[in-house]
Amino acid sequence: MNRLFINIGRLIGVDESHRDRIAGKAMAEIGMLSNAWIGVSDGTISDYGKMESVPSYDASTEVIDIDGGWIFPSFCDSHTHIVYAGSREQEFLDKINGLSYEEIAKRGGGILNSADRLHATSEDELYEQAMIRVNEIIAKGTGCVEIKSGYGLNVGDELKMLRVIRRIKESSQITVRSTFLGAHAVGREYAGRQSGYVDMLCEEMIPEVAKQGLAEYIDVFCDKGFFTVQETAKILKKGLEYGMLPKIHANELDVSGGVQVGIEHNAVSVDHLERITDVEIDALVRSNTIPTVLPGASFFLGMPYGQGRRMIDAGLPIALASDYNPGSSPSGDMRFVVSLGCIKMKLTPAEALNAATINGACAMGMSSKVGSISRNKLANFYVTDALPSLAYYPYAYTTPIIKNVFLNGAEMPV
Ligand code: NIG
Ligand code: FE
Repeated sequence: MNRLFINIGRLIGVDESHRDRIAGKAMAEIGMLSNAWIGVSDGTISDYGKMESVPSYDASTEVIDIDGGWIFPSFCDSHTHIVYAGSREQEFLDKINGLSYEEIAKRGGGILNSADRLHATSEDELYEQAMIRVNEIIAKGTGCVEIKSGYGLNVGDELKMLRVIRRIKESSQITVRSTFLGAHAVGREYAGRQSGYVDMLCEEMIPEVAKQGLAEYIDVFCDKGFFTVQETAKILKKGLEYGMLPKIHANELDVSGGVQVGIEHNAVSVDHLERITDVEIDALVRSNTIPTVLPGASFFLGMPYGQGRRMIDAGLPIALASDYNPGSSPSGDMRFVVSLGCIKMKLTPAEALNAATINGACAMGMSSKVGSISRNKLANFYVTDALPSLAYYPYAYTTPIIKNVFLNGAEMPV
């Protein structure tokens, strides 16, 4: 054992069931041990238990006395766009002055604004800017993150983004999953020629991304004013041919049909879902696809909140993710996302935490490695103050309770 943490007031998220997700009523339960210890060897959780049975150790083990503090499994944030250049606070002002997200996009702002900035930014600079956000989310408790391309919108710039994601993967302790989102918007060179853009995406971008091994997943913004169900089906099919599993942006702006087309192509997750009917919920119940809700985007854009409560009551697993991006959710604070899940979607604290950890891991195909305190999973967890109760965690939503963060057993700066 390299490190032994003792006197843990509560160890949260303990689970030896090897489940890849938690669904429906079971989401209300989260495993906990009080007065516990946890041991770390070679970056993974070697064992844990109650203090009565703390193991013997030799001088090579570093003992860390948690002194009644609590330990939580790191967040698994399964939907972000944290590689981007600059920021878009001008659009924030436009929104304050009454324009909608769609109106801003129609005027050439939004995603295309970020694409212009990304084009003008060097790969090194883009990496430096993204790493500031990566280190920020690490300090806020995230241990595994999915990052999308989608601010390139031409072959060269999409590849540039994906190389930056790969560099983050190689240089940071955070676990990274990479998604190709060329179908985020139509690139400027193809203005008015959307089908030409989709053809180029399928014939040039997908083969090149696959050849360079730059993405595990493929995503499409299937929504009003962006990509149609038919275009989405074509892109997902092509991606699957090249070994990239589908994820989907759907039902943010309209009931788009995106949920169904995602499910038809065995999407790992369908994300956003601010607008949903019984038809989509029934289709999800009959599928293996995990619905992912992004309350930070609803908060920031003043949109309806995804109906997490209704989905859990229908027996579904849900994941909660931040959607960290410059336009609709300029924050990757998963504690805030958990609090929004409780406050705005009426999730219980245990449901929201499960959604932000093991179910997020599932939405990235990573449940065997992260998402809970389980033997042999990565030693990804954070230490908080001693809390009066689990409910205090989402309740005290701006109190800085996170004291230390460990990823792969290594202490990270907070
Ligand atoms: O998930 N909805 C589409 N894409 C992002 C927003 C991107 C942007 O505005 O830059 C999202 O909300
Ligand atoms: Fe998104």
